[in-house]
Amino acid sequence: MKSNAFHIKRGPILQTEITVPGDKSISHRAIMLAALSNGTCKITNFLDGEDCLSTAAAFRQLGVTIEQPEPGTMVVHGTHGVFTAPAAAIDCGNSGTTMRLMSGLLAAQPFTSRLTGDASLLTRPMRRVIEPLTLMGAKIRGEGTRDTPPLIIEGGPLKAITYHTPVASAQVKSAILLAGLYAEGVTTVLEPAPSRNHTERMLEYFLVKLDCEQGKSPGGNAGKEWRISLAGRQQIESRDFAVPGDISSAAFWMVAAAAQPGSRLLIKNVGLNPTRTGIIDVLVRMGARVREVVEVVAQGEPCGVIDIKGGSLQGTIIEGDEIPNVIDEIPIIAIAGALAEGETIIRNAKELRVKETDRIAAIASNLRLMGATVEEFEDGMKITGGQKLQGAKIPSYGDHRIAMAFTIAGLHASGETIIEDTDCVQTSYPGFASTLADLLKRNSMRQKRTPVISSLDSRRRSGKPDKE
Ligand code: S3P
Repeated sequence: MKSNAFHIKRGPILQTEITVPGDKSISHRAIMLAALSNGTCKITNFLDGEDCLSTAAAFRQLGVTIEQPEPGTMVVHGTHGVFTAPAAAIDCGNSGTTMRLMSGLLAAQPFTSRLTGDASLLTRPMRRVIEPLTLMGAKIRGEGTRDTPPLIIEGGPLKAITYHTPVASAQVKSAILLAGLYAEGVTTVLEPAPSRNHTERMLEYFLVKLDCEQGKSPGGNAGKEWRISLAGRQQIESRDFAVPGDISSAAFWMVAAAAQPGSRLLIKNVGLNPTRTGIIDVLVRMGARVREVVEVVAQGEPCGVIDIKGGSLQGTIIEGDEIPNVIDEIPIIAIAGALAEGETIIRNAKELRVKETDRIAAIASNLRLMGATVEEFEDGMKITGGQKLQGAKIPSYGDHRIAMAFTIAGLHASGETIIEDTDCVQTSYPGFASTLADLLKRNSMRQKRTPVISSLDSRRRSGKPDKE
């Protein structure tokens, strides 16, 4: 395997158990709330991926002491939300979460900061955070065309607002809530559909009082809105935090196993927050045998095991309010669609055009390179399954999830698949290549032996409940 290319051949039946690295969204937020807190917080199972390390580096530039005594552990010395002006621009790398959430915090600081990033991040839309933060009183502008980064943020005193987000975005919601922590009065965010709620859960874990109302119809309108309110100037109590495994990283192996008759995969210690488990619902609709068991709710986040048995898949429709719940999983869902019988239709997912790359265009073009039939829409695509995938040379477009999704496609294709430019995988899943190599090795050795999976069944025999 070349350092920056994956060479993939058809994979064996998977019969094993794995863990996945810490959740990316939660790792970012753990650093942020720990930095805002009133003491020292130890974060374990922290994702040592480039995106989350960008967040840690950003806080170091703001005067926060963060130690890394060993891989996966961060010790953050909170500064009560008081930061020092950065001496240089803060480099957010490839991370939209770092840039958008930091914007909320920096909007409230008594100094000016500049947020920059890599070529991909410099093309990503920031008006969605500039608009609400400006309403709160911040002076913030994008130096690029159409308000794209670098961002210049002249921070200062903020006032609380009530804001209806036009699209369900956890990054926008979180930026406003973090700014709201510094504002006088009650800040309220209303979302058209529920986006991931890690910020809310973690704020509550750090003993911040929130008021959340689910899916309430706003005055006179037919639709539902999700409301989150918090009063500013609350104390954030320092606490330790163990990050659960990332279901978005697990999703790659879930599809690899679900589409392979005879496979059985158990993924342990994985986050099962209901705003993130849409991938399970989608795979079940496609005919996969997937079970989740919440074993613990730790620090506000449900965590447990996912058990997948492989079989043949059928196409499905993914649209509407389900999209925010599977937004990062669409690349691998599209691969599942190509491996299924019948049509898989994805709609209302225009947001994919402004992710790390234009994911609609990248998925459609790469699937066609592998022999699949794909019709592209402005807000999604239709994939006609049932055709055998052929190995091909696949560009990653510098997008980690495109690289990993097409690696799984390569395991199900004839011939060799070469995924080009795979360094981007480091942003969210530094151990991806070694887990892949390990899975292939373990399973080729075990091919004719009894599966090793037993823990889920024995837990059921022990009478432990499935859900909290
Ligand atoms: C994230 C929110 C989502 C997601 C991203 C991580 C977060 O983005 O796609 O990978 O951690 O808040 P949007 O808020 O733009 O939907």
